[in-house]
Amino acid sequence: MSQTLADLIVIFGGTGDLAQRMLFPSLYFLDADGFLAPEFRIVAAARAELSREAFTAQVREAIDRRAEVPLDEAVWTRFAARLDYVGVDATTAAGAETLKTVVGAAKAPIFFLAVSPSLYGRICRALGGSGLAGPHSRIVLEKPIGRDLHSSRAINDAVGDVFREDRVFRIDHYLGKETVQNLIALRFANTLFEPLWNNLTIDHVQITVAETEGVGERWPYYDEYGALRDMVQNHMLQLLCLVAMEPPADMEPDSVRNEKVKVLRSLRPITRGEVQASSVRGQYTPGVVGGKPAAGYEAERGQVSATETFVALRVDIDNWRWAGVPFFLRTGKRLPERRTQIAIQFKGVPHSIFGGAARADLVANRLVIDLQPDEDIALTLMNKAPGLSQGGMRLQALPLSLSLLKAYSGPNARRRIAYERLILDVIHGNSTLFVRRDEVEQAWSWIDGVADAWAEAGMIPKPYAAGSWGPSGAFALIERSERAWSD
Ligand code: BG6
Repeated sequence: MSQTLADLIVIFGGTGDLAQRMLFPSLYFLDADGFLAPEFRIVAAARAELSREAFTAQVREAIDRRAEVPLDEAVWTRFAARLDYVGVDATTAAGAETLKTVVGAAKAPIFFLAVSPSLYGRICRALGGSGLAGPHSRIVLEKPIGRDLHSSRAINDAVGDVFREDRVFRIDHYLGKETVQNLIALRFANTLFEPLWNNLTIDHVQITVAETEGVGERWPYYDEYGALRDMVQNHMLQLLCLVAMEPPADMEPDSVRNEKVKVLRSLRPITRGEVQASSVRGQYTPGVVGGKPAAGYEAERGQVSATETFVALRVDIDNWRWAGVPFFLRTGKRLPERRTQIAIQFKGVPHSIFGGAARADLVANRLVIDLQPDEDIALTLMNKAPGLSQGGMRLQALPLSLSLLKAYSGPNARRRIAYERLILDVIHGNSTLFVRRDEVEQAWSWIDGVADAWAEAGMIPKPYAAGSWGPSGAFALIERSERAWSD
């Protein structure tokens, strides 16, 4: 693990969407909270010729849009003084030489690639060739790292030729979310759950990442990837790993990542034989979302497409802890609500001592972890329903609820951008919340199996109306094992 504090960040693609919407606002908030050393500098690199003043004005606008409150002028002045802009083609040796003059004497620069992954290899080569990739430098990569195992290896090889693995920070922005990290705290900072966290007590797990937005203008990228590669390969498998991994010995990067890789290696492949029963592909057609009419995917795309915008999967983990506990995953665009949720469904009591109507009241405990839009953890417990009743007591399921929103609300509370945590960790060289090469490749290898099985079985996406919970097959998928989605 690198301990040298970074003293400079170069953001390639500095005028792009990610940089403007997420990276500069995150850096500003880090500065506001006192996390940036006085000498820390921020350089944006992009092809356009822009003056430093014009660029600074652009950044101010971007931060204004993102901030919920007016900017603090003193912080802005300090922040603006850190900014610099350089118009270069960073894939060329000449571009890297120009960059060198701006990077100057920085000892531990961060190179953040907020550009198309097709440029990763070339930018790394140019950085390496110019001597900018010194021993304390770091490289940050965004997804998608490849479209399959083969292409991800090619990217990782090209980056690895220049940067040692412990200098490579692969971002999965879900790992920067406060509630996702809270999963680690919930599991390993409480004695309550871990003894129950296995196939003796847990019946199944559901992970839902539902979005109301459509693909919109992003289709040139999305149409090539689809929901399986865009959401399941990274965010959803990361959530699954955090739920399923064994307790790491500590929070050191390799301790945590070793455990995640073990989970990925234990995922049962979905082959041609099971793919019809274990997966559903869907694509939205016109419908209504949040009371407003929404176009279908093909209308947005402007032509016929076989790309899925919805996936549901039954995933089995073949290890001692999880044998016989299915994980049901579903994600989609244009669903009825925005919701990221993990539901841990416990088994029912082994024997009911309650007769009469109370027998039917009895439902099994469920731990529901809401990550978005609201952060909430609720454990459903059975209680006696208040009041008198003839023929024995009645039971009622009630949530024991920990609303993080309420627990952490206050005058200074603000929902942090996931990138704040992640950038701060890169500055400190801590890669616990970043994805290691073998993790990415293991995830791709499993995802490739699903994609191949779809192709072999000729499974094309089933239509679902925008504003619905996906094709009917998604319900059948979970009902086949006599379970139901926790809606
Ligand atoms: C991105 C995907 O990685 O995550 C998008 O490419 C998706 O398609 C987004 O919309 C969801 O992120 P969040 O933080 O809004 O849940």
